Amino acid sequence: MVIFGITGDLAHRKLIPSLYHLVKSGQLPGPLTLVGFARRNWKPEQLADEFRQSLAESLEGEAVDDALLRKLFDGAQYVPGDFTEPERYADLRSVLEKLPASNVLFYLATPPEAYPEIVQNLGKLEMHLEKRGWSRIVVEKPYGNDLQSAVALDEQIHRVFSEKQIYRIDHYLGKDTVQNILVLRFANAIFEPVWNNHFIDHVQIMVAESLGVGSRTQYYDSAGVIRDIFQNHLLQLLCLVAMEVPVAFRPDAVRDEKLKVLDILRPMKEQEVLQNTVRGQYTAGEVLGEKVAGYRKELGRDSLTETYMAARVYLDNWRWAGVPFYLRSGKRLPERLTQISVHFQRAPIFLFDWCHLSGNAPNVLTINVQPNEGIDLSFGAKIPGQTSEIAPVRMHFDYAAAFGKEPPEAYRRLLLDAMTGDPTLFTRSDEVRAAWAFTTRIIEAWQQHQPERLPAYAAGTWGPPEAEELMRRDGREWMNHPFPREPEC
Ligand code: BG6
Repeated sequence: MVIFGITGDLAHRKLIPSLYHLVKSGQLPGPLTLVGFARRNWKPEQLADEFRQSLAESLEGEAVDDALLRKLFDGAQYVPGDFTEPERYADLRSVLEKLPASNVLFYLATPPEAYPEIVQNLGKLEMHLEKRGWSRIVVEKPYGNDLQSAVALDEQIHRVFSEKQIYRIDHYLGKDTVQNILVLRFANAIFEPVWNNHFIDHVQIMVAESLGVGSRTQYYDSAGVIRDIFQNHLLQLLCLVAMEVPVAFRPDAVRDEKLKVLDILRPMKEQEVLQNTVRGQYTAGEVLGEKVAGYRKELGRDSLTETYMAARVYLDNWRWAGVPFYLRSGKRLPERLTQISVHFQRAPIFLFDWCHLSGNAPNVLTINVQPNEGIDLSFGAKIPGQTSEIAPVRMHFDYAAAFGKEPPEAYRRLLLDAMTGDPTLFTRSDEVRAAWAFTTRIIEAWQQHQPERLPAYAAGTWGPPEAEELMRRDGREWMNHPFPREPEC
């Protein structure tokens, strides 16, 4: 496995810890030799030491097993060099030729500007050719900046690697709770009959983060939440919730169905974008008891980049006609919470008194993607005693309680899938293009209508008032918790 950018943040936080766990659990499909390629002047024998600290951090208290760490870096190689220098790729090739391994997995953990250059150089030296075994490439997001640049990048990569060699990562697809969406829907027969516009009022999908942009201000300011989360994670979650049942659980059968969802997303004209989306930017506030600065303060300059967005979108097919999907994500919200809530319609006639009934109906199925992985189903139950009042209660499934363990880090699963050649959880070229086509229309409309300032929300609140208004207009409410709040009866 060749990691371009091995000295960087992704390798420290995700890749090496995940590989460490794969070695530990004995899940690797065969012997693995790591090859690092980056600018810093490291030596191969230094690699294990360089990663000990970050590994300890990611293990959260568990001690680093030194024997395992040594095993992971056993025989590891390091090629120091700039991604723009062709000679360094010759070095890389001679390193690879000396290894006994026949398969090679290239991993692009570099800034995206380097992708075209790296791929082109690999191509020039024919490292993509599958002479001895397979050759694959894993590409991290951001995959382009808009439709045009994504298509251009795709063409550059396709000049060297064929589609079946390319593994585009969306790490949300590696989360067990996300994979469980299809299991919930298609391994159980009770949900599918009500999973449509006859029974569902609306769907909310939320990726809330308490963190701010941290040290990634440069990247983030050019991306905003629409490129960072909406174009990929939010639209992928939407696909899994809304897709038709695939004919089999095979990579292309699943991805064909996801693509159809992206294709039927109703495109928005400029005015519709303005009516159906909200942008926001956080100002100073308090998150989880800590005082934090506003976005522009962190950035050190003025900016019109959104750190929050909400959108109402529609899918034009028979199953979903008329059902709004409300998608939202933001930084510096009150907590880290990713959830999908499916809001069912109300009973046609109320026979009972509800002690509390909000804008949303009582039956909500909530998929808690993180942090408290599980599923909740809420419904009305009679309050005990001499009363006919009804209150919302819930059935609750908790991953950790049911299986005795927390779901593992998404990257473990994805790395293993890339090694064993299963692309089901990776996004296909046509999916990425369709997601960008929809997203780019929103970006362009926003650019045409830049306000002097974006709507503000104080860090530690659930977004700007405009987002509340988007729901209120529809007679609905955002659900900021895994289940409807306990009523005050
Ligand atoms: C990444 C984004 O793709 O996802 C980050 O670039 C974001 O900005 C992260 O924080 C969230 O991932 P997770 O797994 O912590 O929800």
